[in-house]
Amino acid sequence: VSADRYYTPFIPAHKKFGNKYKAEILPENNKGIDLIPQIMIGDSMELKELENLILPYGYDELNINTGCPSGTVVSKCRGAGLLRDIDHFDAFLEDLFDNKSCKLSIKTRLGWSDYSEWKKIAEVIGRYPFTEVIIHARVREEFYNGIPHIEAMQIADEYIKTPKCYNGDIYSLEDLEKINIQYPWLDEFMIGRGILTNPSLIEQIKCGDKFEQNDLEINKRILAFMDDLFETYLVQFGSEINTLYHMKELWSHLGKNYPEHEKELKTIRKTKNKSEYKVAVANILA
Ligand SMILES: Cc1cc2nc3c(=O)[nH]c(=O)nc-3n(C[C@H](O)[C@H](O)[C@H](O)COP(=O)(O)O)c2cc1C
Repeated sequence: VSADRYYTPFIPAHKKFGNKYKAEILPENNKGIDLIPQIMIGDSMELKELENLILPYGYDELNINTGCPSGTVVSKCRGAGLLRDIDHFDAFLEDLFDNKSCKLSIKTRLGWSDYSEWKKIAEVIGRYPFTEVIIHARVREEFYNGIPHIEAMQIADEYIKTPKCYNGDIYSLEDLEKINIQYPWLDEFMIGRGILTNPSLIEQIKCGDKFEQNDLEINKRILAFMDDLFETYLVQFGSEINTLYHMKELWSHLGKNYPEHEKELKTIRKTKNKSEYKVAVANILA
């Protein structure tokens, strides 16, 4: 069971379009899923550059990132940095739609520093024919912290007539249902950290009451997946240290599902090689 659609991590302009980015979009790496490449741009020149690099792989839509809160991104007026000046944001979107060669969707936040900015931003976004508007219900200065402003979806509905997707802090079927009951017209939901914490989440959401796996079965599947991912990273990075770094990063989310294993999780964080790591993981999942 998979999600209806996936988005790549953002692909920036003016960078060597090397293996790292190519691997994200190569069709052979993304068989059987609907994938939209996401790009990080500041104007239509950069859009053109990335259209030329990405569309030949068979894509007809690009997703524009105006949500990334990272200091290095916003300082270049990219990502959520584009939300700081609403007139500039409007001109940016006009420039893109005047020059685009493919469908565009957008992933955005509610504003730069204050929720009250959202109304104006929603009004601007609503004037452009995006195929999809994904809304991470926080402002830039909230980064990934605090409670998302779910009520922003009401304003979104007023101003944005194209399909809307809610994003922020969905960790369970109950989280999703809570939002869906409040806003039953919502078209879609995007899940980020929730899937890293609970890899069965999509299945649980899609199957609802029919999802009947017990913890033992779930752990077995997660173990097989984590083993597979470890070996894939090892080939891709050609480095055990780098592979361990990425696996530990993933465990920082997955581990939240195993609060009773704090000691074992600490051991995972300290492992220095593959055999130590495998023993530590088996102590939780096997
Ligand atoms: C480590 C990390 C990397 C992320 N990279 C991207 C990215 O490349 N593009 C993007 O649109 N969002 C990115 N996000 C944001 C998530 O897509 C999502 O909007 C955010 O985590 C809130 O949703 P969640 O509560 O479901 O995780 C990233 C988040 C994290 C924590």
